[in-house]
Formats: sequence, structure tokens, C-alpha cells
Amino acid sequence: MNVLKIAIQKSGRLSEDSLKLIKECGIKLNNGKGKLKATADNFPLEFLFLRDDDIPGYVEDGVADLGIVGENVLVEKENDVELVKKLGFSKCRLSIGVDRNWDYKNIHELEGKSIATSYPKILGNYLKGKKVNAEIHEISGSVEIAPSIGLAEAVCDIVSSGSTLLSNGLKEADVIMRSEAVLIAQNALSADKRNILNQLIFRINAVQEGKQ
Ligand code: PRP
Ligand code: ZN
Ligand code: MG
Repeated sequence: MNVLKIAIQKSGRLSEDSLKLIKECGIKLNNGKGKLKATADNFPLEFLFLRDDDIPGYVEDGVADLGIVGENVLVEKENDVELVKKLGFSKCRLSIGVDRNWDYKNIHELEGKSIATSYPKILGNYLKGKKVNAEIHEISGSVEIAPSIGLAEAVCDIVSSGSTLLSNGLKEADVIMRSEAVLIAQNALSADKRNILNQLIFRINAVQEGKQ
């Protein structure tokens, strides 16, 4: 009996919405609290709860067959996986944040400045396209604190409600890319697994149509 392994963010903006979609698909999770693995009662799915940044790599390697991640992570990591479907939730922006008193007009003001981010590739490509030379500081978390501790003059990070920027004295100055949750799959799924994936896609489509 074949089972599809799906990787979902352990905690964060995507995890709750991802589990909600699974539930709306009529799939019942057996989830022990704090466990990093779970199975479903009524559908051949096994769940792995992981850091979102690691999910595209695990799917490429076949550790997981499927994953739900933000497009932002998918684009940054450049893993060789199939983008199955945009999911329409967890919408956000990858944006430049600067001190709220900075009278920011456009991206050229970042010339010669330093920017802290967890998305060095996306930011680097964007700046290159705009012919702006800036120093990119890659950090993996708590990016919004960087300006106040003197680590960088600006940040480039995910903005959803904007409350993280606000509570760190920053404002959203420029949008680099828009993102939402996407379903990704390993490139070489077996026919049996592809069959289960198609059943899952069928249910997701039904949920999405029901919302229109
Ligand atoms: C992003 C970002 C902020 C938060 C912003 O993190 O790094 O921490 O969301 O959201 P807000 O505008 O609603 O305050 P993300 O969910 O990508 O999680 P991660 O950085 O832990 O991977
Ligand atoms: Zn992350
Ligand atoms: Mg974060």
C-alpha cells in the first residue's frame, strides 16, 4: 500500500493554513501533540512537520513526496521540484523595510547601504536588475531587529500583517515580490504516488471552487 509523505511547516504563518486545507479536504489527522510525524485515518497521507526553509530540499531529495511552502522559499532555494498548484492562502510580500523616519523614495536610495535578509538570492537578483550596489547580510531569523542593533541599514523580509515591521520601528518601503502558499512535488513520483496526488488535487480543487 502506497502512502504519500507531505511536508508541512512545523510552526509559523503557513502551518495553520496548511492544516486547515487538509481538514477541508476531509482528511483526518492523527496528531500527537509535539510530534513531528502524523498519519491520516482516511487518506494515504503521512505528515512531516519541518522548518519551511528545509522543505524544498527534502522534496527534491525524495525524503518527502510533497510539500506546502511559500513561493518565496521555493524561489530562493532554487530546488528542482514540480510546482503543482498555487494554493491561494498565506499571501504575503517580500519587502524592503527601513526606519519609519527614513523619507524613502525609491530603491536607488539603497546604493552603498547594507541590507539584512534571509533571501539573499531574490534580493541580489532584484538589486542587480535595478543596477543598485548594496551589501547583503544573510541572517536566518529575527531580521527586523538588524537596523536597531546596527547590523544593517535596511531589511528585506516577509511582510504579512506588517506588525513585525511596526513593532521594530520600521516601515514597508518597497515590494520585491508577492508570494502565497504553493503545493510542490518531487519530480519523479511513481505512478501509484501520482495517482494519490491526483486524488488530493481533486479534493483541493473542490475546496477552492467551493470558496469562489
Ligand atoms: C515572516 C517574517 C516575520 C513575519 C512577518 O516570517 O520573517 O517574522 O513573517 O509577519 P507580519 O507582517 O504579519 O508581522 P515567516 O512566517 O516567513 O517565518 P520564518 O521566518 O520563521 O520562516
Ligand atoms: Zn522560514
Ligand atoms: Mg521570520
